Amino acid sequence: MHGGIEHKTSVLFVCLGNICRSPMAEGAFREAAQARGLAVLVDSAGTASYHLGQEPDARAITVARNHGIDIAGQSARQIERDDFYRFTHIIAMDRANLEGLRAKAPRDGTARLAMLLDAVEGRRGEPVADPYYGDAAAFEAAWQVINRGVDAWADKLLSETTHQSA
Ligand code: 4NP
Repeated sequence: MHGGIEHKTSVLFVCLGNICRSPMAEGAFREAAQARGLAVLVDSAGTASYHLGQEPDARAITVARNHGIDIAGQSARQIERDDFYRFTHIIAMDRANLEGLRAKAPRDGTARLAMLLDAVEGRRGEPVADPYYGDAAAFEAAWQVINRGVDAWADKLLSETTHQSA
């Protein structure tokens, strides 16, 4: 077996703007991984470039903070070619994000592409609705759905990691 960093799990969460859903997913997943003792590199990006360099939407920062997680230090970036090699998993929030990723993915890219709720029993293929044009309640609802997804991914990746090293 090969040792080393190339076998470590690494997860990139992707939405459209990288200011609402994927920053919440990044923060929530970091916490979920830490709680499980899962060593994993975590980041987020957008398929679009509208908000490059911006911190997350204030409503996303607030809902995360209400749940004890600080995402204020994040900065929006766009998905780039290297991401398809650097990350083992790239996880999209909705179908359009996934299609955007597929359109950009190099033919020999190594990352596995999936949707966030694919790991949740009975919710495969369901989107995380975009809360951007919604109110605070829409952000709270997104937070809840995102947490179902990241918990399921953390459990799945932990069990895969455990089986690999067994
Ligand atoms: P996100 O939400 O994809 O969850 O970050 C959005 C952010 C910005 C826009 C749309 C969705 N926008 O059109 O600028």
